[in-house]
Amino acid sequence: MSTEKFINYSIDKIPQEEQSKRSIEFYNFLKRRRSIRNFSNELIDRKIIENIILTAGAAPSGANKQPWKFVVVDDPIIKKEIREAAEKEEKRNYESRFPDDWKEELEPFGTDWHKDFIETAPFLIIVFKIDYEMVEGKIKKNYYVNESVGIAVGFLLTAIHQAGLCALTHTPSPMNFLQKILNRPKNETPFLLIPVGYPADGVKVPNISRKSLNEIMNYNRE
Ligand SMILES: Cc1cc2nc3c(=O)[nH]c(=O)nc-3n(C[C@H](O)[C@H](O)[C@H](O)COP(=O)(O)O)c2cc1C
Repeated sequence: MSTEKFINYSIDKIPQEEQSKRSIEFYNFLKRRRSIRNFSNELIDRKIIENIILTAGAAPSGANKQPWKFVVVDDPIIKKEIREAAEKEEKRNYESRFPDDWKEELEPFGTDWHKDFIETAPFLIIVFKIDYEMVEGKIKKNYYVNESVGIAVGFLLTAIHQAGLCALTHTPSPMNFLQKILNRPKNETPFLLIPVGYPADGVKVPNISRKSLNEIMNYNRE
């Protein structure tokens, strides 16, 4: 790496027509991404997962602290442990902890406490956020951790879709069991559990819609 404090940077200038074409093509590509909850057990090369994680690691972060760790699990024994612990929490969530209005919101997704996909998917990417670093025995807090890790996960999900794979953004809360099972240090907090793989044969996804541009965007002042 260069020791210069600042280095040159440039991007390829693209004609506006091409920008228009690329932006709509990318939208058409990315809007086909869906979360799936039934995976096939078909294997994927570790190298592909590593490239996907490199992409996530290219995300911007507050003061470039890169406050994330992606723990990849492909060991069936650990996957089983994670599934059992997740189902234990989710059973309590669905049976007593989730308020009725949240259960109503979840109804269209047909989800329950069973999480077979945690064992079926060939890979689990467990995303941890790093709240602080220990520097010379002192706690050095990271800033904008949620924002940074959220953006990195956006990159991650996009890279998964680009590689022709599927994922689910899963939050079997509380998620501290992941810290224990995966033996992570105290400064890391579980953020998301993301199974990655191919869809199971005949997979179906909820029939949802997206808000229109008018609903999600405003120019200038109201
Ligand atoms: C932060 C976050 C947490 C989520 N947690 C869960 C979850 O625990 N279980 C689940 O089945 N889906 C979960 N989802 C998936 C959402 O239900 C899904 O993204 C949403 O319905 C839109 O569908 P799509 O991803 O197919 O576009 C989560 C998504 C996000 C972004």
